[in-house]
Amino acid sequence: MAARKKVTVIGAGNVGATVAQRLAERDFYDVVLLDIPQVEGMPQGKALDLLESGPVYGYDSLITGTTSYDDTADSDLVVITSGLPRKPGMTRDDLLITNAGIVKAVTESVVARSPNCFIIVVTNPLDAMVQLCQKVSGFPKNRVIGMAGVLDSARYRTFIAQELGVSVEDVSAFVLGGHGDTMVPLPRYSTVSGIPITELLPAERIEALSKRAANGGAEIVALLKTGSAFYAPSASVVAMVDSILRDKKRVLPCAALLEGEYGVNGLYVGVPVKLGAEGVEQIIEIKLTGEEKTAFHNSANAVQELINVMREKMPEVGL
Ligand code: APR
Repeated sequence: MAARKKVTVIGAGNVGATVAQRLAERDFYDVVLLDIPQVEGMPQGKALDLLESGPVYGYDSLITGTTSYDDTADSDLVVITSGLPRKPGMTRDDLLITNAGIVKAVTESVVARSPNCFIIVVTNPLDAMVQLCQKVSGFPKNRVIGMAGVLDSARYRTFIAQELGVSVEDVSAFVLGGHGDTMVPLPRYSTVSGIPITELLPAERIEALSKRAANGGAEIVALLKTGSAFYAPSASVVAMVDSILRDKKRVLPCAALLEGEYGVNGLYVGVPVKLGAEGVEQIIEIKLTGEEKTAFHNSANAVQELINVMREKMPEVGL
């Protein structure tokens, strides 16, 4: 059997450590968990704790904690979660410039040691961070992807399943656009075993569920008070890692670089993509109604505004 694929997770906080745990439990990957020297011992401690879960849980994955990028060399895939999470009252956009500095530095260190890896970005504000990462990496667009849509649609699926009293397994949901408040749920493509929810629920209930999904991150932040969601985000990352490294070719909503698709050029926005051994293998374009088009373009404009701020504050990146 071929050697296990190597996955590095940057940031050993809530999202990063949970991603490492979920990956280890898959038993397909060796995992490197990296954080900054200021918290020396923390990534090592979490990694050792995870390693010692192996005998009980039944996995042989090797998990290494580190503060040195040398340990990340030749990763097949790198997940970037480093950055500050949202605090109550903060929007994802408030995080922009602080997290941009972190993502830029991390990307430079990652690509210097793993020039052929895939990168999945999780740090918020997601669409802007993945755009920055791709630019800084110099990687082709198929190898740099943002995690947002899988999470947003998981929230939507949860609420639809609860409303109808059916299994989440039979609910699939279609979302487009940027991560967050401007996300665009598409009820006519959201189904229960193939039946559009527009056939099953009145318009005002669909509207309420869509709104709750779009505000799903803020709902968790308001409850937790000291940070943001990490269980569903980490589960979403692992679905993407599996699809790429196991060449499953799943069709998942992800932030991908659009070059003309959906009438958008040169911007990362959430769209359905086929994820396989080549990373983003295809962007799936569907016809939108006038109203959906407007919502999608509003969402893309919100992402563009963040890019404009970074362009001004970080001219050296050349965004
Ligand atoms: N390099 C590596 N790690 C870093 C760096 C850096 N330059 N800067 C910060 N970190 C680490 C922190 O030390 C911390 O351990 O990133 C980790 C972030 O963990 P948490 O604060 O627990 O945040 P988390 O909930 O994991 O969210 C991380 O994901 O969902 C998004 O909005 C969220 O942007 C946030 C990110």
